[in-house]
Amino acid sequence: MKHKFTEGLLDNKKILEKLDIKKGYKVLDAGCGNGYMSKKFTKLVGNAGTIYALDTDKAFIEALKKETAKTSIIAVVGDITSKTPLEDSSLDLIYLSTVFHIFKPAQIEGFIKEVKRLLRPGARLAVININKEETDFGPPMEMRLSHEELRQKLPFVPKGLFDVGKYFYMQLFENSK
Ligand SMILES: C[S@@+](CC[C@H](N)C(=O)[O-])C[C@H]1O[C@@H](n2cnc3c(N)ncnc32)[C@H](O)[C@@H]1O
Repeated sequence: MKHKFTEGLLDNKKILEKLDIKKGYKVLDAGCGNGYMSKKFTKLVGNAGTIYALDTDKAFIEALKKETAKTSIIAVVGDITSKTPLEDSSLDLIYLSTVFHIFKPAQIEGFIKEVKRLLRPGARLAVININKEETDFGPPMEMRLSHEELRQKLPFVPKGLFDVGKYFYMQLFENSK
């Protein structure tokens, strides 16, 4: 894979418009990588909000902690497919960009359980995936999911599907109220 992160590949303006992040929101950037989206989110939530940037990779999280010490970003080492240190029903939005394709079936189950635990009723999950079509970068075709395949795997209410750049889509879901 030529690109480790999606920085520079996504239509961030459209993503931020559709996410509609408000002041005071608590947002989880799950599998945050270098945390470039967390840095955009923090500008929107203001002092009353919090961005949790979570990744299994300790080096990414250590680097992000140093960079964001004086912001509303809390960088945490953790696995979104099992129990994280975050509180029950504490989040307004979970953002998962180009991570879902990595999950094995047991991890998908763990992910669903953790998302249900963390989201407030009516709160949203945003999943960004690479399109299921040939590109000269990205995961092999057998790991990619079509829009329908993604929706079939997740028991949340689909709320909107958007192209977010040449190669990617974003599916929004709502946690039931
Ligand atoms: C392709 S990168 C995407 C990074 C970032 N979201 C972006 O859009 O640039 C996938 C990231 O997910 C992280 N990751 C993989 N499995 C994870 C899991 N179960 N929980 C949390 N992070 C995970 C990896 O360490 C990596 O940083």
